[in-house]
Amino acid sequence: MNDIITNCKIKNGFGPGVQPAAATSPTKRPLSPDHPNPALPITETPSPAMNRMGWALRTLLVVDNSSCLKDRKVSGKLIRKCAPGTELVDWLVNLAPIVHTRAQAAGMWQALLEEGVLTHVNKEQPFKDKCFLYRFRLDEEGGAPAAGIPQAEDLSAANEHIREALSALFQRGPDATLRMILRKPSHERTPEELELVFEELVHIAALSHLSTSIKRELSSIIVFEAHAQAGTILFNQGDEGRSWYILLKGSVDVVIHGKGTVATLKTGDDFGKLALINDAPRAATIVLKENNCHLLRVDKEHFNRILRDVEANTLRLQEHGKDVLVLERVAKQRGQHSAFKYTVMSGTPAKMLEHLLETRLGQSVSGMDPFLDDFLLTHIVFMPVVQLVDELANYFHCDAHEEAQTPEDREYIINFKKRVIQFMQKWVMAVRHAAFEEPSVCDFIEDLAAEVEADPDLNEETSIIHNVLTQMARYQEDRNQNAGQKWKLPTNGQPICLFSGNATPSKTVIRPDDDIIFRVYCADHTYCTLRFPMHTTAELIKACAADKLQLNRGPDDLCLVEVKSNGERSVFKDNDVSIPTGLTLNGRLFVSVKDHLDALTQLPEQECPTEGVDIDLEILSTKELAYHITIFEWDLFWAVHEYELLYHTFGRHHFGKITANLDVFLRRFNEVQYWIVTELVSTQSLSKRVGLVRKFIKLAAYCKEYQNLNAFFAIVMGLSNMAVTRLHQTWEKIPSKFRKIFQEFEALIDPSRNHRAYRVFVGKLQPPLIPFMPLLLKDMTFAHEGNKTSLDGLVNFEKMHMMAQTMRTIRFCRSRSLGLEPPSPKSEGEVRSYISSFRVIDNQRVLTAMSQKVEPTRKLN
Ligand code: CMP
Repeated sequence: MNDIITNCKIKNGFGPGVQPAAATSPTKRPLSPDHPNPALPITETPSPAMNRMGWALRTLLVVDNSSCLKDRKVSGKLIRKCAPGTELVDWLVNLAPIVHTRAQAAGMWQALLEEGVLTHVNKEQPFKDKCFLYRFRLDEEGGAPAAGIPQAEDLSAANEHIREALSALFQRGPDATLRMILRKPSHERTPEELELVFEELVHIAALSHLSTSIKRELSSIIVFEAHAQAGTILFNQGDEGRSWYILLKGSVDVVIHGKGTVATLKTGDDFGKLALINDAPRAATIVLKENNCHLLRVDKEHFNRILRDVEANTLRLQEHGKDVLVLERVAKQRGQHSAFKYTVMSGTPAKMLEHLLETRLGQSVSGMDPFLDDFLLTHIVFMPVVQLVDELANYFHCDAHEEAQTPEDREYIINFKKRVIQFMQKWVMAVRHAAFEEPSVCDFIEDLAAEVEADPDLNEETSIIHNVLTQMARYQEDRNQNAGQKWKLPTNGQPICLFSGNATPSKTVIRPDDDIIFRVYCADHTYCTLRFPMHTTAELIKACAADKLQLNRGPDDLCLVEVKSNGERSVFKDNDVSIPTGLTLNGRLFVSVKDHLDALTQLPEQECPTEGVDIDLEILSTKELAYHITIFEWDLFWAVHEYELLYHTFGRHHFGKITANLDVFLRRFNEVQYWIVTELVSTQSLSKRVGLVRKFIKLAAYCKEYQNLNAFFAIVMGLSNMAVTRLHQTWEKIPSKFRKIFQEFEALIDPSRNHRAYRVFVGKLQPPLIPFMPLLLKDMTFAHEGNKTSLDGLVNFEKMHMMAQTMRTIRFCRSRSLGLEPPSPKSEGEVRSYISSFRVIDNQRVLTAMSQKVEPTRKLN
């Protein structure tokens, strides 16, 4: 008989479940009871209590002479001791004073039926107050010997037990009826039954956020599902998501490959929504932890129709009792690349990586998903490269400790390996050479390549990993070629220039181990000249300078400090790097006794213009100037890596990484701005000044035309400098046409409403373009200072997303190469050398004084 029951159960999807091979590595495919049958029991064997209740009722029925329990012929076959549902209900209503309605009695019989104590003779019907025939399990063929005629002592025992049995059954009846309804197909549920289900759904916490009308819709499609055996796998990690579940009774383990059980979900918890909403594979395997677990299930088609768009906004995934990933539902926006409905708000670095590998990589996903891109651009903030490579290596070798692999395991593992390889490809695409800077990454790529080549299952990935290898080789070749690059911070400020090592100075990236030559002064203005790699810390520079300058003080008494041209001092942290490039235009580096900082004074030369080519600006074509400024600045902009924005914002000392390329680009902005002012206030002749103002307005216009907005801003800001705007005699002579254009330019750089005018303007431009870099840095700082990096121990990924958006702006600006037509071939060299090092005074007080000198303030009579 057990065989019959078992077969039926499996046919109906109520099998005993499959035990996983090991708790950490469940391997079998799920049994999904898609169409539960309310005619069948929900347990493998009845519980002792229900068995005893059934026995007591049968005993009383058998000894009752007027009993409905008779041997009957059904379709020519004799069925022993069976009774129609209607008569069983009659008998129970008469027997038990607590039973007031036929429905209550029917519910009590159903409670026995769902445990298999009572069965429909053909196992086709749940209990119904109708003429269908039912009998006790004890009377079925092969029933236990106790199925005989009861003896006197049996009767007295049954009588003794019956009160308690009836009361227990009375309690169970309504739930059994409800479960029976929930196992019927939608179309068989009557309006009264739907009302019963609805009333039940109102009390389920996992549905509490849903409206009444949605709960009513759910009433007709939500399904009850029971699993008899602990160890049953409901579904496997990597499977397609087909249903969402709510645990009504029992508990389940959430098991993840390589991690084992990460969480246990209990009565009232729900799971399985992630794969449905994201249309992604299951993120974990769900294994029943107890026998007789009860679940409610909503299948994908209904979930999509009824719930997908109204689902709860926040989803929290836990491991070992702690939140590891917080996801938030997003409305899909027009033009949005991602097909995913859940976006990561916060998470542990490792869980975010896992979520990313599982959902954002794989054959079905093409292009670069924003979550993946955000992660690749910002992981250095929360997950150092070494840790990322370690995690990836673990994922790639997740099969190392699993001895016996089923074909399903192998498929899963191969899929995961493919994802790791795709990740490497996207990583290199997103951050280019920066991905190869860490030796551990290069080692990992080489290992991967060897393993991919050796594994026939990874055949298709060979070309991907070879492509990564080629890029790595190119990077290494380029690094070797440019090894030994030297830079110089001239004695008089700008420019930072390359003076040996590279034959083509354009598009030259400053690298951490490039040397830079610079001076360090001490309080009496004596100095030493040092040569150090760019990534040298302030501490080392300080110690070496102190030694050379014979300061004879311990390192703790000393500090490295910049004295700006206006006398301001700014002290470097000991672990700061790329110090010389971080100086302001006319700043000087000093080593000083900490207590004597106030004694530091600027050098007389700091008030003079920086070194530069002396040339008569009037003779240079304005368009040609704009053209060469743009080409020059494009190269500087091109050398800036997106990561430098993060180093700059969080503080390069946190990363120990240089920001030299960004420093140089930012210095250039100030250089252009102060060049405008310096030129104007050092031009004595009024008519020449007028000519210069006109030239600079035209220069701004050309820069705008060339989409060099960094120079455009610098020029307009230079013209708006107080030392220039106060030159009334000059401005009075500027034709109104030029003044009008200048007013339009000023409106464009107007900082109000968060630089709205500029943002609208630049939003319409197509690349290539050079953006106004200080605004991008302001956006980074705003995102950084306005948002914590860590929220309750999780990485605040929203902040990372905000920062990545700004970093992507840079990528967008450079997504097409600059192909400007030169305005004329003549005098190229002269203009080029002129624009690469302007003569600049950056001390506002000096500039204002010079402005006063050329146009003294008019005295009012
Ligand atoms: P889904 O990916 O559809 O299937 C597995 C489910 O396990 C997943 O949805 C979550 O609902 C649930 N789950 C609970 N905790 C975790 C966890 N830490 N990681 C992944 N899934 C989890």
